[in-house]
Amino acid sequence: MNREIKGKVVAVTGSADGLGLAMVTSFLEQGVKLAILLDINENMGNEALARLKQKFGNDRAVFYKCNVLDDIDDTYQMITSNHKSIDILVNNAGVVDEKNIKRTMNINSIAVMEWTMKFYKYMSLANGGKGGTIINVSSVCSYKITPFLPYYQASKFAVLGFSKSIGHEKIFKKSGVRVITLCPGLTRTNLAYFLNVWEGCSLEEFSAHLSSDHWQDTPAVGDGTVEIFKNAESGSVWVVEGSRLAEKVDF
Ligand SMILES: NC(=O)c1ccc[n+]([C@@H]2O[C@H](COP(=O)([O-])OP(=O)(O)OC[C@H]3O[C@@H](n4cnc5c(N)ncnc54)[C@H](O)[C@@H]3O)[C@@H](O)[C@H]2O)c1
Repeated sequence: MNREIKGKVVAVTGSADGLGLAMVTSFLEQGVKLAILLDINENMGNEALARLKQKFGNDRAVFYKCNVLDDIDDTYQMITSNHKSIDILVNNAGVVDEKNIKRTMNINSIAVMEWTMKFYKYMSLANGGKGGTIINVSSVCSYKITPFLPYYQASKFAVLGFSKSIGHEKIFKKSGVRVITLCPGLTRTNLAYFLNVWEGCSLEEFSAHLSSDHWQDTPAVGDGTVEIFKNAESGSVWVVEGSRLAEKVDF
């Protein structure tokens, strides 16, 4: 399939750090025209932007401070009026917070659904748009069940079900908007280092469990995301785990 990446505009939520920043970097390396970084952390966002500008030039990246829970309308307005078009949206911002069900579900699931629908309507051929791609970040935790992170696992399971449904080939034929699920495996980021568990488990048990897992570094997920953009069918689910190439998961 190998879809063209050159000349595209990509926006990634939660991209001041971690997997989101790696995705932006890989998209820029592969020739997107513009990367739009969106993150709640203004200092980290500006620092990331400065580094990207140094590496890729002044016109290839912009940063907007944005909380995915509150700023969807303003950010949508800014993107669609400042940049005229958006081809790829990656809903990546996420948290592990086993002390707070609502925060976990709101950021990891509800915001992903709201952002998908907002940009889906904008991109849809049925509304005069030119089609596009939305990649929703779930996790291997959406289908590999452990006893440590029940809220997080539920929130990522929701992303999987939602994205497979809205990305269904029957809808894609009308909308021209691909919706794809990405399930990263354990990756060295702040999120994975500063974990918490629900009260029924201990952090020591969880740490012991994680030490036997196949950790990877962020570029594996950045590059995997670009591969998925190039090759994935709408409604499909892809895993990037243990530094291996992206693989399609069949359920
Ligand atoms: N690191 C892993 O092992 C791993 C594995 C599977 C899935 N994931 C998923 O990948 C995504 C990125 O995780 P990461 O490991 O890079 O985490 P991270 O903590 O390193 O980075 C997350 C970024 O999201 C931003 N963010 C958090 N809440 C936000 C909000 N409300 N609005 C806007 N930005 C917000 C943070 O400021 C941060 O820059 C998450 O959805 C996570 O669940 C991570």
